[in-house]
Amino acid sequence: MKHAQLKPFPKDFFWGASTSAYQVEGAWNKDGKGPSVMDMRRKYPEGTTDFKVASDHYHRYQEDVALMAEMGFKAYRFSIAWTRIIPNGTGEVNLKGIEFYSNLINELIKYNIEPIVTMYHFDLPYALHERGGWSNRETVNAFVDYAKVLFENYGDRVKYWLTINEQNMMIMHGKALGILDPDLEDADRELYQQNHHMLVAQAKVMDLCHQTLPAALIGPAPNIAYVYPATSNPEDVLASQNFNAIRNWLYLDAAVYGRYNATAWSYLEEKGYVPTIEDGDMETLKKAKPDYIAFNYYATKTVEASVGDGNDKSGTGDQEIVIGEAGVYKGHSNPNLPTNDFGWQIDPVGFRATLREVYDRYQLPIIITENGLGAIDKVEEDGSIRDPYRINYFKQHIEQMQLAITDGVDLFGYCPWSAVDLISTHSGAKKRYGFVFVDREEFDLKELRRIPKQSFYWYKDVIRSNGEKLQ
Ligand code: BG6
Repeated sequence: MKHAQLKPFPKDFFWGASTSAYQVEGAWNKDGKGPSVMDMRRKYPEGTTDFKVASDHYHRYQEDVALMAEMGFKAYRFSIAWTRIIPNGTGEVNLKGIEFYSNLINELIKYNIEPIVTMYHFDLPYALHERGGWSNRETVNAFVDYAKVLFENYGDRVKYWLTINEQNMMIMHGKALGILDPDLEDADRELYQQNHHMLVAQAKVMDLCHQTLPAALIGPAPNIAYVYPATSNPEDVLASQNFNAIRNWLYLDAAVYGRYNATAWSYLEEKGYVPTIEDGDMETLKKAKPDYIAFNYYATKTVEASVGDGNDKSGTGDQEIVIGEAGVYKGHSNPNLPTNDFGWQIDPVGFRATLREVYDRYQLPIIITENGLGAIDKVEEDGSIRDPYRINYFKQHIEQMQLAITDGVDLFGYCPWSAVDLISTHSGAKKRYGFVFVDREEFDLKELRRIPKQSFYWYKDVIRSNGEKLQ
């Protein structure tokens, strides 16, 4: 739809950015913190660092928050490391961990930056992993107990809560993201059992939040990417519906409507992945209602019809392993989209399409909690970092957000990835996302000095003009 006039961004729009604990904090075993599955990850791509020091935000959070304030952030989305709060996943609470996030929250409030807290961003306590992780139903109770501690300690200052970051990516790439034993064979049914437990845990925590903190708002935070059919061939359209259901709607239908998406359920039946559902689980899902939807968007996906044999697994999807599955869909590289240095496709218009689709389906306010460009930035001889490619990426996506708002989408915030440079989940320190450069290399920590990038100053203007000044 072409609009004669665009609606402005809402007056109190949450301009900000995001990070996650294991990628930014470092201090992985300091002040009583227990190990998480991300700390204990065994396999890294060659030449890629671990998360042990990361950007050392644990020791430099004040400097980092001051930089966010300088950009004019209205909100900051970060995650709390479960293992800093409860080192073994259950049992004893670590007061030093409570204190760290309390200080961080106070620091944000000092600058009028709204804290948006993700309770769990890939970093399951390793102690729970050793007891079966999300395969063990006890982990549901552990998550609820952990949530209670967070609500008790921070509920007086944190209004916006997010349950689980990218549950759908953990299920689709379980081994890479550490929720499954990497040596486990034929893991798919197990993953969908874990998925069910996470859905129940999420529902219980949303409910608990509403009971204990009536003024707070809580929602899920999946990675949503609208799935295009490769052509108008009806079989390609069916394949796109299949993948949309399995990748996107399964998670949001369960969170919002408390039911399994029908297409996704028939896929689980067909493949023999149906999880064990205990008495009362579906009632628990139904009872819980999110107040808003947060989602992470990087790019759309494209699929074609499955050939129905082993060839489906050789699809040319982009980075996110949209390979395919016999009888369901086959990954397809969209020829209309450019890619970044790491092979990720870029689709700002698809952002608008995804926003519209999510809003039409669920009619809940939306906040974007990730969107960004991973790139190899370099320090110029004069010490500056010029990243016009990142500015261009953000500009195009912000334009599409405004179009989506004009289309009628109730969008209340944009927290792209990432506030400062951090360690990429898949590509280590060399792949940077931040508005602020952190001067370290993969294995040379240097001084971890913070240097605002060109995009830092650009974003500051965007925020100051409430999204009007994008040049
Ligand atoms: C999201 C995750 O999937 O993508 C982040 O929530 C992650 O943790 C981001 O860093 C970008 O992915 P990557 O692999 O480039 O770090």
